[in-house]
Amino acid sequence: MSDTGAVSVLGICGSLRRGSYNMMALRAAIALKPAHVTVTVADISQIPLYDEDVRAQGFPPPVETLRQQIAASDALVFACPEYNYSMTGVLKNAIDWASRPPDQPFAGKPCAIIGAAAGMAGSARAQYDLRRSCVFLDMHPLNKPEVLIGQAHTKFDADGNLMDEVARNLIRDLMANLASWARQIGNK
Ligand SMILES: Cc1cc2nc3c(=O)[nH]c(=O)nc-3n(C[C@H](O)[C@H](O)[C@H](O)COP(=O)(O)O)c2cc1C
Repeated sequence: MSDTGAVSVLGICGSLRRGSYNMMALRAAIALKPAHVTVTVADISQIPLYDEDVRAQGFPPPVETLRQQIAASDALVFACPEYNYSMTGVLKNAIDWASRPPDQPFAGKPCAIIGAAAGMAGSARAQYDLRRSCVFLDMHPLNKPEVLIGQAHTKFDADGNLMDEVARNLIRDLMANLASWARQIGNK
């Protein structure tokens, strides 16, 4: 965390598709964040499927980049879609790669989770799975507010703007809470 009080956040979205509601939600988080928070969005689209034999030869460049981005950030925000009641393979795969030693970069990192899904539960089940991984990896997941954007296809306009006022307020609060949480965890 910088002396100026700025908080740097890395956004990681678990969907790769162009029209992803979760990426739209992440963009809403960027629009609604406090002024002293900066958000960079990670590109996890080029990360290969995890293979311990490949890992033994060293981290592939997209993984190395992600690990460095995680290590350099004050906090993380995950945009977590739900596939078959769990987090997407894309997100889990990126987390699995980044989590390998040495210097596991998630350890001690404050993080927040948002999610959008077609179902009514708004990716709740996936988010709880992700929270479990966060705990194992020694992150400090923010408890509240939960941002569960259900029936996502009804919540964004054609330009990808989040139109739901309840969700917008929750995301605004979450980003403010994440910044405070990062300062607390970082002892600043
Ligand atoms: C393989 C697959 C499984 C899915 N499983 C669920 C699910 O368990 N719960 C749910 O609410 N939506 C489910 N969906 C629908 C997704 O919520 C929807 O496709 C959503 O738009 C994905 O997020 P994205 O827009 O960020 O890509 C599933 C979609 C796919 C492709």
